[in-house]
Amino acid sequence: MSGLKSHYEKPAEMYDGLRLHQNENTDGCSPRVLEALAKLTREQLGFYPPYSAATDAAARYFGVSADHVGLVNGLDEGIMGACIAYLRPSAGGGVVPEAIVPEPAFEIFRFDTAVAGGKLVQVMPKPDFQFPLDEVLGAITPATRIVFITSPNNPTGVSSPFDVIRTVAKRVPEEAIVFVDEAYAEFAGRSFIPELPQFPNVVVGRTFSKAFGLAAIRIGAVIGHPDVLDPIRYVVPVYSVNIAAVAALQAALGDLEYVNDYLRQVKESKALVYAACDRLKLTYWPSDANFVLVRVGARVADVVEAAKTHGVFLRNRSGEPGCEGCLRMAAGVVEHTKRGLAVLEEALCAVR
Ligand SMILES: Cc1ncc(COP(=O)(O)O)c(C=O)c1O
Repeated sequence: MSGLKSHYEKPAEMYDGLRLHQNENTDGCSPRVLEALAKLTREQLGFYPPYSAATDAAARYFGVSADHVGLVNGLDEGIMGACIAYLRPSAGGGVVPEAIVPEPAFEIFRFDTAVAGGKLVQVMPKPDFQFPLDEVLGAITPATRIVFITSPNNPTGVSSPFDVIRTVAKRVPEEAIVFVDEAYAEFAGRSFIPELPQFPNVVVGRTFSKAFGLAAIRIGAVIGHPDVLDPIRYVVPVYSVNIAAVAALQAALGDLEYVNDYLRQVKESKALVYAACDRLKLTYWPSDANFVLVRVGARVADVVEAAKTHGVFLRNRSGEPGCEGCLRMAAGVVEHTKRGLAVLEEALCAVR
């Protein structure tokens, strides 16, 4: 794994500061979600949860029919489900199934590929993080079963052009899927979902953890043609989405104004981060997500530590391919961004 860690190390469980390290909505969820949770009855908690109303609501939001949506316990579960469905040894038909991961990428792709028993094929980044299309096409073999494409990408915030997804989807073997991770699609304002009818071998992954502020509730979705979703459905535990998540999702989808307000703040916050970076002469990558990757150089670990002592959590991403010397900072609620930037600047001055 090119010197990378072999398992996911959860960031420390830090709640006593400003969390700008996991791309969450630091304002939390819509108040309507809390109202819906408070209305849950003893019986509802006593029975196995019904999914159909929540699936219908999600399908309406995504603009597809309900049979094209599978709710999951966070997109993490959808990714693990896809890996087990498409990368377990028996999915290879005699060869070890391969997953292509264009780097830098959400680390979970690497770990879940290993857990499922697949072979990881990493494609290293270009210096500007533009999608390495030729290299990805060159990595496709008869054993390819998943190509992961994240748009906008984490940790860079750079979007992958839809043409890239179309080209890759046309080139993978018949048994393979292209898994398009759209965890941050709301911030980019675009999704590959409308193209799914033309590309039935593409599965789109979505989460309600980020724009909707429901990370702790654990609710996400996989969207695609039933033929490619079914293998994922079979491996996901039957009742992995609980009644609180079902109720929360329906309430959250009923308050899109709340999400839109957060999206407006994210835009304003990113402009503040860019302006600060320009002033401090730091390299950054314009982001289509709710975070910005910033290169602070060899002192990155010390800067992240110094910010932590001031109660602001940032994520050191320097161990990721192409991200040497970089930290990632969430850019969401404007007040939080202002505080985060003040502390970052202080930390940069303290650590020279
Ligand atoms: C690219 C990407 N995919 C998936 C996830 C996981 O989302 P969830 O909280 O729904 O499991 C994340 C969370 O950080 C992410 O960044």
